[in-house]
Amino acid sequence: MAIRRITKYGEKILAKKTKRVVFDEMKKELPALLADMFETMDAVGGAGLAANQVGLDLRLAVIKIHREDEDPLSIVIINPELVEKSGSMYEDEGCLSFPGLFAKVRRAAKVKVRALNEKGLPIEINAEGLFAKALQHEMDHLDGVTFVDRLPLLSRLKLKPTLLKLKAQWKKIDERKMKPETL
Ligand code: CO
Repeated sequence: MAIRRITKYGEKILAKKTKRVVFDEMKKELPALLADMFETMDAVGGAGLAANQVGLDLRLAVIKIHREDEDPLSIVIINPELVEKSGSMYEDEGCLSFPGLFAKVRRAAKVKVRALNEKGLPIEINAEGLFAKALQHEMDHLDGVTFVDRLPLLSRLKLKPTLLKLKAQWKKIDERKMKPETL
């Protein structure tokens, strides 16, 4: 296992729609890649990590939700598709590709997602709360969309100087100090 470098805002692969995974072609290398992605995400206290955040053009992501009095909920989504969404929430969000930046993003409160799991088997996920937020955030990544793209135009404009400043600092930041719900 190895910790991989996380791509940061401004790198082209974060703005690109990722390629669907052909499971049979990838099944040999997949376990090691997924182990690396979980290790990378855990090392910086993240709740989700998309393949393009470790520089790979693949439609897959890992999610790990920490829960009180229960084991964390860990899940792999390969070729995920949003099937249903309902309700609305408006909560702070962060992203491992934008260390130190948090902003309120409008998301659906509940989602239904179909994907393949790490064994290549079809799964259907019904999620709400932080899990729903993580699924939407990671699926956005796989479409080349970041949480900053989801902000209203005015917020984006206001954020621009902050983003430029952060961009200069990101190389120096100790990512391990990030908040646990960073996606
Ligand atoms: Co993110």
